[in-house]
Amino acid sequence: MAPPDWQLLDAAALGEDPEAFLSPGERAVARAFTAEKRRQDWVLGRAAAKAAVRALLRREGAAPPAPAGVVIQALPTGAPHVLPVDAGPPIVVSISHGHGLAAGWALRAGPGGGLPGLDLERVRPRREGTLRFYLSPEERAGVLALAPGADDEAGPRDDLAVRLWAVKEAAFKALRPPRGMGLLDVRAEVDDVGGARVAYTGRLLERAQALGAREVRAGWLRRGDVCVAWVQAVDAHPDRE
Ligand SMILES: CC(C)(COP(=O)(O)OP(=O)(O)OC[C@H]1O[C@@H](n2cnc3c(N)ncnc32)[C@H](O)[C@@H]1OP(=O)(O)O)[C@@H](O)C(=O)NCCC(=O)NCCS
Repeated sequence: MAPPDWQLLDAAALGEDPEAFLSPGERAVARAFTAEKRRQDWVLGRAAAKAAVRALLRREGAAPPAPAGVVIQALPTGAPHVLPVDAGPPIVVSISHGHGLAAGWALRAGPGGGLPGLDLERVRPRREGTLRFYLSPEERAGVLALAPGADDEAGPRDDLAVRLWAVKEAAFKALRPPRGMGLLDVRAEVDDVGGARVAYTGRLLERAQALGAREVRAGWLRRGDVCVAWVQAVDAHPDRE
């Protein structure tokens, strides 16, 4: 159920000159980070997003610009914004990074595409008290019915909680919401083989409708101890709101 075209990179993908694929403006942003880990995550995230944009253009039969010619800025909300590379519908990307990895996924906005959302999270023990920040009472009940882990070992309970969390973060990011909206307005179900279902409620449902989302597709996969979740708000367009 994984989308065919998202890019998952580790630091080795950056090669000897990690900034070679950045535009001059992006290089200035990268150099302004004071925390080295944040800088590395940001650079790897940009690499994954640019690879995703270039892969999309290649699939469409176009010769993509060099990576430095794919420029991704940050909107005031923090959501990534791809500067136009052609006269087609806007290309929209989603980025997630951490744990030595970064994922990027690009879609054309609107009919035939929509808005992508990606999230990666490490499967590790989750404290019961934190579940209420992102799970509904019903979702929590399903999680708490499973066996917890022991000490530093994640158990089936943690595994399910992290899958739900990642799917909800991906669903949140797909709608590129302003501050004030949260994960509790995403309802999620996940299976054990990479499938997921997402339903928006409350303010995120209003936003999904305003953006023209016709349906929501979702899934997840595991890479080692990292869960990567993806959500597509089908046919949605960021300028429709
Ligand atoms: C913004 C948020 C989605 C980032 O997710 P994260 O797991 O912390 O970090 P990730 O590495 O997966 O994602 C970071 C990327 O998300 C993207 N992003 C940030 N804000 C975004 C938004 N509003 N919409 C879409 N994408 C966004 C950016 O590309 C960012 O990377 P960059 O700054 O290097 O460009 C998250 O912090 C958040 O606000 N979640 C919802 C709030 C909530 O209800 N939290 C409940 C407590 S768990």
